[in-house]
Amino acid sequence: MRSLLRFKQLKISTTVGSIQGTCYSSHRLGFGIRNIVTSCRAVVLPRFGGAGVLEVRDNVRVPDLKPNEVLVRARAVSVNPLDTRPLHSIISNELSGGVCSAVYVPYFFQMRAGYGRSLFESLLPLVLGRDVSGEVAAVGGSVQTLNVGQEVFGALHPTAVRGTYADYAILAEDQLTPKPSTISHVEACAIPFAALTAWRALKSTARISKGQRVLVVGGGGAVGYSAVQLAVAAGCAVSATCERESIDRLLAAGAEQADLEVILKGQYNAVLDTIGIDPTERLGINLLKRGGHYMTLQGESASLADRYEYWWTYMRTDAEGLDEIRRLTEAGKLKVPVQKTFPITQVREAHDAKDTKIIPGKVVLEID
Ligand SMILES: NC(=O)c1ccc[n+]([C@@H]2O[C@H](COP(=O)([O-])OP(=O)(O)OC[C@H]3O[C@@H](n4cnc5c(N)ncnc54)[C@H](OP(=O)(O)O)[C@@H]3O)[C@@H](O)[C@H]2O)c1
Repeated sequence: MRSLLRFKQLKISTTVGSIQGTCYSSHRLGFGIRNIVTSCRAVVLPRFGGAGVLEVRDNVRVPDLKPNEVLVRARAVSVNPLDTRPLHSIISNELSGGVCSAVYVPYFFQMRAGYGRSLFESLLPLVLGRDVSGEVAAVGGSVQTLNVGQEVFGALHPTAVRGTYADYAILAEDQLTPKPSTISHVEACAIPFAALTAWRALKSTARISKGQRVLVVGGGGAVGYSAVQLAVAAGCAVSATCERESIDRLLAAGAEQADLEVILKGQYNAVLDTIGIDPTERLGINLLKRGGHYMTLQGESASLADRYEYWWTYMRTDAEGLDEIRRLTEAGKLKVPVQKTFPITQVREAHDAKDTKIIPGKVVLEID
């Protein structure tokens, strides 16, 4: 079989037994080959549906690396709402005088159930998963900042076709950053997708700054909790709505307990609504200062979009944001608590646990 060895600028065609694929040098300046991966174990989504459709398959093809890409030996990947549940569930609705104990948990957008069907259907079987923590196994020819063996974490765009539920994931160089040595792979993989979603809204869209007042509606989840910590780190005064179970965690992260309806009406420079239904949209917009930004992660409601600075924000990979997220994590100012881990072979059980809300917090798949 013909293979291609790539050493930075140097390309050599060769024959390597019966191994098919592209081999990448592990040394930019040397000639050692540490990594030949053309197929690996992965969790595959052969058709849209419930957790039962997921299959752990060996010998799933690993595509050739592009020059700017990095092959990551995955050690842990996190389960995001985008991956999982097909339900729009309404679980409770209780607004108390102080921090709201809320509310609705909408799940409109799940790849497993067919979100993005028009984009993804012709590409089935898919590999789910957006974020990853692991070690660099190989680098493309133009990669400058990462080296083989280095521990990294990062996340793919929401629309990436080959996800991270696999022994080997492929991400662009600017979608990865060195993993803080202070945290494990399990802790690291829980952070990037959620924190980058919050970053995009607060930093790129609302451009929050020191002294401003920020409200996070639905602050108990991975995105909401990241948003609270990012806004606190930026020097903002932060309030959040959440379920009762999340109140202590949010107060410990620096959120204020406040009477939202009375004292702080019209005071917020930015509102990030992670729930994004009519009642939370009205709540958020009512509390907004003139000229402030209302940002929703759902955008389904959009009933007031014509009258306010209304943004439906999406996660986008962002190298600068990811670096800052790493720095804050290293400094102990940003974390996403992991409630439970499953071996990747039990991915169906992990998705079931999220679908049925048996585990409200972050679930991570460990890869041996
Ligand atoms: N537009 C985008 O690009 C984008 C990107 C990421 C996510 N999203 C969407 O944003 C929403 C939030 O995502 P997420 O990743 O933050 O979801 P998540 O971590 O599953 O959180 C969802 C909700 O579950 C509750 N929860 C989470 N952890 C908990 C815990 N340990 N204890 C008690 N309750 C807990 C929280 O309720 P309380 O807040 O009420 O406590 C939280 O708001 C989802 O609908 C997701 O689809 C959109």
